[in-house]
Amino acid sequence: MGQITLALAKGRTAKDSIKLLEKAGFHFPDFHEKSRKLVFYSEDEKIKMIYVKAVDVTTYVEQGAADVGIVGKDNILEAEADVYELLDLKIGLCKFSIASLNKTEIEKGTAVKVASKYPNVTRNYFKKIGVPVEIIKLNGSVELAPIIGLADYILDIVETGNTIRENGLTIITDVDEISTRLIVNKASFATKTKEIRHLIERLKNVLE
Ligand code: PRP
Repeated sequence: MGQITLALAKGRTAKDSIKLLEKAGFHFPDFHEKSRKLVFYSEDEKIKMIYVKAVDVTTYVEQGAADVGIVGKDNILEAEADVYELLDLKIGLCKFSIASLNKTEIEKGTAVKVASKYPNVTRNYFKKIGVPVEIIKLNGSVELAPIIGLADYILDIVETGNTIRENGLTIITDVDEISTRLIVNKASFATKTKEIRHLIERLKNVLE
């Protein structure tokens, strides 16, 4: 069997993703979270792993620079990437929620201002519910926006709910369930079917 390139998302879920790969029999002896190295090989050399920012994983996979990727559903939805999503790894569990400062319900027909790190997800959601939206794209600390008067609502990831609570915000509604997924480049799935299926089967066995 040949080698496949896997793009792994840095950040909160990296440790759990590596643990899962290890359980599935792919060991990365050189890997540790604080390493500045960007490329790691599994002991059996079946996987070349590139360690990249979560927002970039879908780009590597869609472009075919990586055959497979491990990344959160949040980034997959935002990127609207043309890739296969083949496995839910059941880690990095959280949700997309809408929150506001004064628990102001969203009213149909009234335009709203929403801050988010996820402008596409935000646009799609408000289109679905038929509410006109002005999106303020931020890159972090989104919870600040309603406090400072920059936006009426935020659409953001909620995991423990601590950030929402500690900043006095209230969840208005949940939008989507999020978890870490395995994505696959479409051409790679045709040319490296055996290798990719092998990875999926071994991950599936661990998940069951
Ligand atoms: C994420 C997210 C929320 C927070 C939610 O931000 O955007 O702010 O985590 O987690 P919680 O429900 O467990 O509090 P992150 O920590 O990635 O930092 P950022 O605000 O700089 O993007």
